[in-house]
Amino acid sequence: MDTIILAIESSCDDTSAAVIKDGLLMSNVIASQKVHEEFGGVVPELASRAHQQNIMPVVDAALKHAGVDKSELSAIAFTRGPGLLGSLLVGTSFAKGLALSLHIPLVEVNHLQGHIMAHFVEPSPEYIATNPKLQGVEIRHPQFPFLCLLVSGGNSQIVKVEAYNKMEIIGQTIDDAAGEAFDKCAKVMGLPYPGGPWIDKLAKVGNPAVYPFAKPNIAGYDYSFSGLKTSFLYTLRDLMKAHNVDTVDALAEQIPNLREDLCASLQTTIIDILLRKVKKAANDLHITRIAVAGGVSANSGLRDAIVDMCRRQHWEAFIPPFSFTTDNAAMIAQAGYYKFLDSDFCPIDAAPYAKTTI
Ligand code: KG4
Repeated sequence: MDTIILAIESSCDDTSAAVIKDGLLMSNVIASQKVHEEFGGVVPELASRAHQQNIMPVVDAALKHAGVDKSELSAIAFTRGPGLLGSLLVGTSFAKGLALSLHIPLVEVNHLQGHIMAHFVEPSPEYIATNPKLQGVEIRHPQFPFLCLLVSGGNSQIVKVEAYNKMEIIGQTIDDAAGEAFDKCAKVMGLPYPGGPWIDKLAKVGNPAVYPFAKPNIAGYDYSFSGLKTSFLYTLRDLMKAHNVDTVDALAEQIPNLREDLCASLQTTIIDILLRKVKKAANDLHITRIAVAGGVSANSGLRDAIVDMCRRQHWEAFIPPFSFTTDNAAMIAQAGYYKFLDSDFCPIDAAPYAKTTI
């Protein structure tokens, strides 16, 4: 009998459902919530309401695209945490209700482990045929052990991955996440939310050497981005004072390429901070396979820098396809599939959690 798992992801502001059949991804549907744009960040209350509206049509579409009837499902996998509690409750409750009604097991997935498992997603030929962005894309799965730089809006970690079910966080941010640094600095420049992709775009035509920002001096493999954020803010404030203006738009009229150069300088600094620690960890632990995961792994500068670092060091770089970098249920389906094979099921009273480590 086929092993068919429906996975549900609702940890933040994307409602997503995916179907995996015998280890092959059949569908991955994502409804992103535009409602947060005007607020410059995710509003938890609005996110959970939008999940409530989206979850039925998203699950329905995922089953339809996969050509699967719910009676064929072997299990329901869901993101239990970490994330926004109100958002997680929607996916968790839906998963429980469906599993109970179908008399099939529930599999809980840690969202961060899911991001790492994005590296093992194997799209089926049918899925690739309907997703032009994946056509011709080489999908390589890392061998164990490898180091994964997990960088998203809420996390910045270096994870040592020894097996599908054996991971250890060896370094993490002591304050802001890398994605937060991108988003908050973008907000100060008047760029839309989420700011990461905008900074990525503008950085491509900016000069990274114009604005030298502060870099943290933290022991071990941990990160800190709050000092960089302050340094960015002070640079902008001092420039506005020197040019006698009180808005970034007015400053941009006086300084050509202001936003482009700020973005390029900021992005280069963030990448430098991130990769210094990865390089140190890889050298110390003698691990020569480096992967990157999470929303910030969509950053083109970071992707290029990891490939470049690995080429110079004779290490292997693993960069996930863009479709599996930001929040999606395909990665939850992959993690859920491995847990299903281990008969690692969860009780029906499992409550979501907002915070946890791997
Ligand atoms: O993993 P994710 O979708 O959500 C969670 O935080 O779980 O990550 C979202 C983060 C946001 O901070 C967003 O600005 C950032 O990923 N991001 C990027 C890029 N695309 C998304 N940051 C830099 N460059 C990008 N191209």
